[in-house]
Amino acid sequence: MTARGPTSTRIPAMRPGLGLGEGYHSPQVGATVRLNTNESPIAPPIEWVRAVEKEVGRIAWNRYPDRGARALRAAVAGIHGVRTDQVWCANGSNEVLQTLLLAYGGPGRNVAVWEPTYALHRHIAGLTGTAVAEGVRGPDLTLDLDEVRRVIEAARPTVTFLCSPNNPTGEAVEQAVVEEVVARAPGLVVVDEAYGQFAPWSAVGIVADDVPLVVTRTYSKTWSLAGLRLGYCVAPAEVVSALERAALPYHLDSFTQVAGRLALDYVEDMEHRVSLITEQRGRLAAALAELPVDTWRSDANFVLFRPRSRPGTEVWRELLDRSVLVRDCSTWPGLTDCLRVTVGTPEENDAFVAALTDVLAAGVTR
Ligand SMILES: Cc1ncc(COP(=O)(O)O)c(C=O)c1O
Repeated sequence: MTARGPTSTRIPAMRPGLGLGEGYHSPQVGATVRLNTNESPIAPPIEWVRAVEKEVGRIAWNRYPDRGARALRAAVAGIHGVRTDQVWCANGSNEVLQTLLLAYGGPGRNVAVWEPTYALHRHIAGLTGTAVAEGVRGPDLTLDLDEVRRVIEAARPTVTFLCSPNNPTGEAVEQAVVEEVVARAPGLVVVDEAYGQFAPWSAVGIVADDVPLVVTRTYSKTWSLAGLRLGYCVAPAEVVSALERAALPYHLDSFTQVAGRLALDYVEDMEHRVSLITEQRGRLAAALAELPVDTWRSDANFVLFRPRSRPGTEVWRELLDRSVLVRDCSTWPGLTDCLRVTVGTPEENDAFVAALTDVLAAGVTR
């Protein structure tokens, strides 16, 4: 056997222009209280687990899954009051977003985003060779309609991303703003509603076949199913058909289709979890208001805050020393020193507040 040369001489460099940097991820470090990735702190109902166990026995594992995921899509369509051909499902809403840009982005096209926002919008643009037209949010981190108009007029984006509620700032985009953007944007408007059930309104209600609007949703947050990897969009039938063509065949496995369909039998449990988390969000916001930190209004299951007396990364590290993990957003555009905490169980929230109080009492370092 001929000896191989060093692998570094044989492995090509990654495709240029991806602009991926470190990629997007939150460190999966060990901590007792994990409040860094906006998951639900509450497990899905045990009845759902039992129902899945039963149905799994009926799956024809030797066969490819239903390529059109028809039963799942029909069930999702049912809860939103739309047609099955207006729903498309994939492995997490991230895959929905990626497939949207595979279908509608690419070289010579661009997407519009307003920073700070969900980093994957930009990341997926990079992966798909789509240029990014970047706007900024206002000084209070909400969307500024003049700035939105400016970017849309200047860049004429093929895809305009809005995130509502916005990750990591927390506030929902107002209905009038979404409607104006849909009226003005020259291409598709994608409203990312990963946290939609926590918000006062949803853009799903304005989706129609003749409106260039796509709303993406996920099972990872309110449905307590981040481990399942399932997301979907509600969109004009023409867009759904384009997504079907852009995705790999059989991309959504039989298990996910069954588990996701059965979850929708537990809408009331999901809504109950949303109300518990919303109540806890209020408690958390009240506790933060007593501490030397700036906070932003949240319509989601997390709260953005900025310690006034100490650098964010130092506070993040010292929280971790106390086994509390939050998200360090301090290097994200416009978020110097900011941290984001996911709303957890009452015990987790208490542990976080106690640890933060302790860290902030430890001294002023600037
Ligand atoms: C705004 C936003 N969109 C989409 C996602 C991705 O969700 P999924 O787990 O469905 O891929 C997240 C996850 O954190 C998110 O914050």
